[in-house]
Amino acid sequence: MAKDPVRVLVTGAAGQIGYALVPMIARGVMLGADQPVILHLLDIPPAAESLNGVKMELVDAAFPLLKGVVATTDVVEACTGVNIAVLVGGFPRKEGMERKDVMSKNVSIYKSQASALEKHAAANCKVLVVANPANTNALILKEFAPSIPEKNISCLTRLDHNRALGQISERLNVQVSDVKNVIIWGNHSSTQYPDANHATATTPAGEKPVRELVADDAWLNSEFIATVQQRGAAIIKARKLSSALSAASAACDHIRDWVLGTPEGTWVSMGVYSDGSYDVPAGLIYSFPVTAANGEWKIVQGLPIDEFSRKKLDLTAQELSEEKALAHSCLS
Ligand code: NAD
Ligand code: LMR
Repeated sequence: MAKDPVRVLVTGAAGQIGYALVPMIARGVMLGADQPVILHLLDIPPAAESLNGVKMELVDAAFPLLKGVVATTDVVEACTGVNIAVLVGGFPRKEGMERKDVMSKNVSIYKSQASALEKHAAANCKVLVVANPANTNALILKEFAPSIPEKNISCLTRLDHNRALGQISERLNVQVSDVKNVIIWGNHSSTQYPDANHATATTPAGEKPVRELVADDAWLNSEFIATVQQRGAAIIKARKLSSALSAASAACDHIRDWVLGTPEGTWVSMGVYSDGSYDVPAGLIYSFPVTAANGEWKIVQGLPIDEFSRKKLDLTAQELSEEKALAHSCLS
């Protein structure tokens, strides 16, 4: 029997990530090839005509799974009844800016959209914040939508996770699908800590630790980390626009694994509300290694953290605490 459609909200849908993301959702990349969807697309009035163009193209693409499109500039209409909310709406940084430079414009959007989601989304709606500063926008959303359970609010660090897999697969000359269990700790910013200490890769000789296969601690402890931390800036420099297709693809990966579960023996990185695990201060949206089953994520526990890693976990937590204070000051 055909499944009931799932309503997926994409804010900022007339923007460049939106343009890459909505066809992926309509093709089943996010929720599976047997899951019909109804897309709710929100943008602001100056982008209304362009948003309508996106809607026209979705109709023209004749996606079999797409059972309807609500394209609107009304936040209440956009949020009504949605089961999944992917929040991309906001302003991207430009060359030379840090992500926190877009803070004041973007956190106020998340404060105002929090109450619309809280009041009008379906019960148990899962929320993914993509717009930067992603962790802090998600935290503001959580604080201003107190009735949405904290386990339902997350931010995107899967792009960084995928970037780390990509770097290791290139270095080892193995398929990216044969590398797993990297971790992105902390903020989706240049202080994030891409950690390959627990990662493995499958080669013709079997599954082995990435550290052993790379056999170059200096590369893993410096160039690898810096490349992943700075990849967003490198894309902006090259494209004069921030990453879009890789961000859209990572958003699909994030929601798919959250809803449908992570493969056995594999974890992924998600920005989630910290509960004090790994001595990360509670009350931040911080990226952790997580597994998911039955629509719920769980932080992977008990991984050994060496002294080098400890410093990096603390540094990015410190930046998130500062961003939190800055966000509150922007909103007061
Ligand atoms: P974009 O400028 O192309 O699109 C953003 C869209 O949001 C625009 O159409 C704009 O009109 C719309 N918008 C602005 N305010 C809005 C509001 N209040 N409600 C609804 N829509 C609104 O930008 P983009 O390249 O698509 O990037 C979007 C965001 O995602 C940026 O903040 C960017 O920095 C961030 N980003 C995050 C990641 C990540 O991994 N977390 C990766 C890439 C980009
Ligand atoms: C990215 O990581 O590509 C995005 O967050 C865009 C940016 O500002 O770096």
